[in-house]
Amino acid sequence: MNVLRFDSEASWVQTAAELFAARLRERPGSRLCLPAGNTPLPLYQRLAEEVRRGALTFAQATIFSLDEYGGLAPDDPGRCASMLRRHLLDHIDLPAAHLHQLDTLASDVDEVCRRYDASIGAGLDLTLLGIGRNGHVGLNEPGSAADSATRRVALHAQSTEAAAAYVRGAALPTWGATIGLRRLLESREIWLLARGPAKAHIVERLVRGPVDASVPASLLREHPRCWLFIDDASASRL
Ligand code: PGA
Repeated sequence: MNVLRFDSEASWVQTAAELFAARLRERPGSRLCLPAGNTPLPLYQRLAEEVRRGALTFAQATIFSLDEYGGLAPDDPGRCASMLRRHLLDHIDLPAAHLHQLDTLASDVDEVCRRYDASIGAGLDLTLLGIGRNGHVGLNEPGSAADSATRRVALHAQSTEAAAAYVRGAALPTWGATIGLRRLLESREIWLLARGPAKAHIVERLVRGPVDASVPASLLREHPRCWLFIDDASASRL
């Protein structure tokens, strides 16, 4: 794992946006896996600005949304699909047919997951991931195996709690669906994104601790093209 440590959130965002734009220009037809959540928001805002001023296009790209909560109302703003739409998709030129999302409202979520995994085909080019405070990536919760498939999962209590920051309804999600670690590990390139003081402990564990399934993000450490982007606050314990 390559660690990119920045002395401020502003430089974290600036560099991540520049590198992302460079990757997409090099490979306009990239198959991208993108997360919802708070961490990537300033990056998405910057990418949207680039698209608006005509400096970047997603016209040939394909986006696979990383994960989705189950059991939320279709219009809940905390659904990953809603977050991604609000903060990125509504502001870029991705053709609708190039967007893949995990439909946890479907009657057969297991079948949705099998098809989703298959639709990734030859694999992802660039995968962006946030890190949960419990070390999850996507909804690959502690204990997830490195070869786990795209699947329906039960949420760890800490993930259910964290969802309170996003969802509107009173009931918090207890399950979801996620791209599995196998597909994430097959990605040509992986970016683990962390910023802010709440991530300092898990960043320390990720960088200094052992590689094991109790912290799924650590399983990505041995990927040859895995980059960890950390700002001063999330790196404060290193
Ligand atoms: P966050 O979520 O970006 O909102 O902190 C990350 C995660 O739990 O995967």
